[in-house]
Amino acid sequence: MAHTTVPLLLMFFLSTLSSNSSFQPALVLEMAKILLENYCFPENLVGMQEAIQQAINSGEILQISDRKTLATVLTAGVQGALNDPRLTISYEPNFVPVMPPTLSSLPKEQLIRLVKSSVKADILENNVGYLRIDRIIGEETAVKFGSQLMGNIWDNIAHTSSLIFDLRYSTAGELSGVPFIISYFSDPESVIHIDTVYDRPSNSTRELWTIPSIVGERYGKKKDVIILTSRSTTGAAEAVAYALKNLRRATTVGEKSAGGSVKVQKIRIAQSKFYITVPVARSVSPITGQSWEVTGGVVPDAIVLAEEAVDHVHEIAEFHKGLNSLIQGAGDLLEDHYAIHEVALKVSKVLVSKWADGLYRSVVDFESLASQLTADLQETSGDHRLHVFHCEVEPESLHELSKIPTAEEVGYIIDALFKIELLPGNIGYLRFDMMADIEVVKAIGPHLIKSVWSKIINTDALIIDMRYNSGGYSTAIPLLCSYFFDAEPLHHLYSVFDRTTTTMTEVMTIPQVRGQRYGSSKELFILTSHMTGSAAEVFTCTMKDLNRATIVGEPTTGGSLSSRTYQIRDTVLYASIPNQAVFSAITGKMWNLARTSNCNITEQSKDQKGVKKQVYAGKLHI
Ligand SMILES: *[C@@H]1O[C@H](CO)[C@@H](O)[C@H](O)[C@H]1NC(C)=O
Ligand SMILES: *[C@@H]1O[C@H](CO)[C@@H](O)[C@H](O)[C@H]1NC(C)=O
Ligand SMILES: *[C@@H]1O[C@H](CO)[C@@H](O)[C@H](O)[C@H]1NC(C)=O
Repeated sequence: MAHTTVPLLLMFFLSTLSSNSSFQPALVLEMAKILLENYCFPENLVGMQEAIQQAINSGEILQISDRKTLATVLTAGVQGALNDPRLTISYEPNFVPVMPPTLSSLPKEQLIRLVKSSVKADILENNVGYLRIDRIIGEETAVKFGSQLMGNIWDNIAHTSSLIFDLRYSTAGELSGVPFIISYFSDPESVIHIDTVYDRPSNSTRELWTIPSIVGERYGKKKDVIILTSRSTTGAAEAVAYALKNLRRATTVGEKSAGGSVKVQKIRIAQSKFYITVPVARSVSPITGQSWEVTGGVVPDAIVLAEEAVDHVHEIAEFHKGLNSLIQGAGDLLEDHYAIHEVALKVSKVLVSKWADGLYRSVVDFESLASQLTADLQETSGDHRLHVFHCEVEPESLHELSKIPTAEEVGYIIDALFKIELLPGNIGYLRFDMMADIEVVKAIGPHLIKSVWSKIINTDALIIDMRYNSGGYSTAIPLLCSYFFDAEPLHHLYSVFDRTTTTMTEVMTIPQVRGQRYGSSKELFILTSHMTGSAAEVFTCTMKDLNRATIVGEPTTGGSLSSRTYQIRDTVLYASIPNQAVFSAITGKMWNLARTSNCNITEQSKDQKGVKKQVYAGKLHI
């Protein structure tokens, strides 16, 4: 940051100094000094003072005669240069600084009355607690009067079965009170680091941690807590909401919070009537490495108008009741259908324990549940093909029978899907971009042989371009492979295990094919790319596995032979689950189609020209 802001800042001061102003350069120097001693991002100010001094020494004089205008110009310059909208310079000849009375300086009775008036508590239907706090009291007050303040209010709330914690009107408070509040929603056994606050004037850093011993009963970390925020929620209340949200202790509902500051001070510039407002402290969350300050704010899990937040809370609470069953439902489907049973068992256990640990608290509807389930399934299994989606209408099965083309459509299909070329050296080139279903292949067979296959059958070597083939149906793979082997003996290509039917099938070459075979001895190259997927990968892997082809190109997508879509517990959620595993005919080991570069294609060349060159080079060596 320092690298980009310093030159900007420099330019700003230089231009101010050389503009038409009669104002003393001393003021700008003083202002710079205040920033250097108080601004909470000192690293952004490196080199500033020297730059200003240099500009002044060069004899430039400020001449903006109107002081208010000067204040505006300085504000724009400082804000722009440091990219911080909180910095302002004002000209206030009549400003009288008032120290707001600190809470602890008030008489005890008045203090208790004040604090009590900023807290409202209620017990709603179904033993749901409602707690609204409009001012977060500081550590000192909390320690002194904690028990009196909490008194009967908290005792009642502590025994509710879930809590609505309303921070929509919380616009005042002290950061030092934040650890107390967080502590009530955590366990005493393990203290949690909530926030790190750097204070520039004292050049000191303070860490906020939860407190092992607090007055009264804890709410603990198991029961549901829903925090309401509004665009007015500011300061310490944001720190509370931010911490509880990111600790996954609470679900947040409402509007994005204001984005306040830990501490901002208005400081008089030397003996002038100019004042500079400076953020003097900053907060960094150890959980996220970021802050709720300024642009950050707290972004709720469910973003709704603050006035409507309470209605949504009930919907979300209702949704949360069914969550466990949905998560278990996803796990059950996986156990019943996922190709690798041990992985399914592990993943399904992890899902349930994540739920039990409260890690699904930020989920507020089917949409957010689908994305979290997808992330958790993929992370735990390492299989990027698993995914859960939300669909209001029942999705069309991805595996319905393919339509058999009519006689008129055949020519069109072949033209669209196949490209052939004869390359120098009597090398054939065949590109096709989709793996068609066997019934379709049979239907277009005669035409295909005549207009495509017959043109390349007599070449000495063949390049099969699978770079644009993202897969399709797996039913024609054995037929396709068979063209590159002799009729006798039959070859075991691979085996497929189907988890749904728990059957293992050996896939063999086919004894009789239409037309002439390319045979088993002529050179064969298969080109791959990161787009080569599913059935196209299985074809490629098979040919490599049986040492029938040289594979050139990028690692492939890592698709699946067959994925099916299953409905989760009669809801609008569906899980797409690969249900077949492919085993090598040579090693008997399972191919890991779940990861890219699954059949261990060595990356050789990325661009098309490179690929062709490489094939030619290979050919020349032959
Ligand atoms: C500088 O200020 C003086 C007096 O305020 C004014 O007469 C003059 O036009 C200004 N010059 C420029 C370049 O703005
Ligand atoms: C702030 O304190 C750190 C050590 O805690 C020190 O290295 C640094 O120089 C100090 N900065 C200023 C501006 O005093
Ligand atoms: C990939 O192939 C290389 C060399 O052919 C081999 O050393 C490596 O173990 C293989 N990797 C996997 C994951 O099979």
